[in-house]
Amino acid sequence: MAKKVLVAVFSASGVTKKVGKEIARIAGADFHEIIPGEIYTSADLDWTDKKSRSSVEMNDPSARPEIANSVADMGSYDTVIVGFPIWWGVAPRIIETFLESYDFSGKKIIPFCTSGGSGVGKSDTALHKNVTGDVKWAKGRQINRPNEAEIRRWLNEVL
Ligand SMILES: Cc1cc2nc3c(=O)[nH]c(=O)nc-3n(C[C@H](O)[C@H](O)[C@H](O)COP(=O)(O)O)c2cc1C
Repeated sequence: MAKKVLVAVFSASGVTKKVGKEIARIAGADFHEIIPGEIYTSADLDWTDKKSRSSVEMNDPSARPEIANSVADMGSYDTVIVGFPIWWGVAPRIIETFLESYDFSGKKIIPFCTSGGSGVGKSDTALHKNVTGDVKWAKGRQINRPNEAEIRRWLNEVL
């Protein structure tokens, strides 16, 4: 039977969402947007302000921003592609909330990121601690643009 794939993204300003939707289309996967309980305003996203919400969250490894929605049937997926923008070199804390909210046992998790220039760095492996059980992690990668040929090549490698 064909693998059932979910693409789940958090996207504060739309870049990761656009790439994630294209990945879902090409992979024939379901698409899910992780919606924060409290939407991030542009003031929240101001990385030049040490007191902005994003700065405060990223400085606190235990921060777990609430999520407003959920994946209806996580149990039915074999593979979950998780997309996020790089914030201060890693995934936003809300991705940690997401990963800690489900049982991923028996699944493969494939991280991808978008960024202003940073590569995936350790943003993928840093998330391994947030998931327990028997999970297969793919190496993460940065995909900043919804380029079909590039996405197809990548999906052939990781799926
Ligand atoms: C709080 C914050 C921190 C960021 N930190 C980084 C960073 O460390 N390196 C980088 O290349 N881009 C950084 N960026 C830029 C985002 O990763 C980039 O714009 C991303 O594509 C936004 O995706 P989105 O539109 O899906 O939210 C940061 C953006 C924000 C809001």
